[in-house]
Amino acid sequence: MKFFIDTANLDQIKEAQALGVLDGVTTNPSLMAKEGITGHDNILKHYVKICNIVDGDVSAEVISTDLKGMIKEGEALAELHPQIVVKVPMIKEGIKAIKYFSDNGIRTNCTLVFSAGQALLAAKAGATYVSPFIGRLDDISTDGLGLIAEIRLIYDNYAFETQILAASVRHTMHVLECAKLGADVMTGPLSSIEGLLKHPLTDIGLAKFLEDYKKGN
Ligand code: E4P
Repeated sequence: MKFFIDTANLDQIKEAQALGVLDGVTTNPSLMAKEGITGHDNILKHYVKICNIVDGDVSAEVISTDLKGMIKEGEALAELHPQIVVKVPMIKEGIKAIKYFSDNGIRTNCTLVFSAGQALLAAKAGATYVSPFIGRLDDISTDGLGLIAEIRLIYDNYAFETQILAASVRHTMHVLECAKLGADVMTGPLSSIEGLLKHPLTDIGLAKFLEDYKKGN
């Protein structure tokens, strides 16, 4: 299972990279705005900075919602750096754009996916990644993890190569459950990864080992 971090914050990306388990980064326009990254050129420069920190894929989202605009933006983003994956929204024009990018060797992440039908369509169009937003489904009392299971079943039925990128992961249990369900990737905040480290018995056990060592040394 690949671990992506869902942020445009360079310090957090560096921290996750330093842990040695980071496989990529996802961003979106809201995350860029949160870091105060505005203006076309600054946004592009920021993507390159992220690519220079991590070894893996970096999702960069198009803003256009028409096919021509998405293609123009996506091609420019893909040219920025070989690690860039073009993030395209799950809309009709988006599916056409994903098909175009797939036919032209540009990798894509189909974002804002909330149903198995949308995920099926994204795979048919040749998306590299599909991003079901599990946290946002949970927010409206719908089973986000259940969607991961449904998509896994469908993709396995037909051996689709599209990778399931569990997005909108909010906490450590989401990460674990996604791993059990066979999501290929998860993207979440740094805290969702660091939470995997924690167990009180580890802390108690380590304190005891160190105490006993000190007694004899
Ligand atoms: C996915 O790529 C999105 O950036 C992200 O996971 C959305 O998460 P949120 O629902 O916590 O905003």
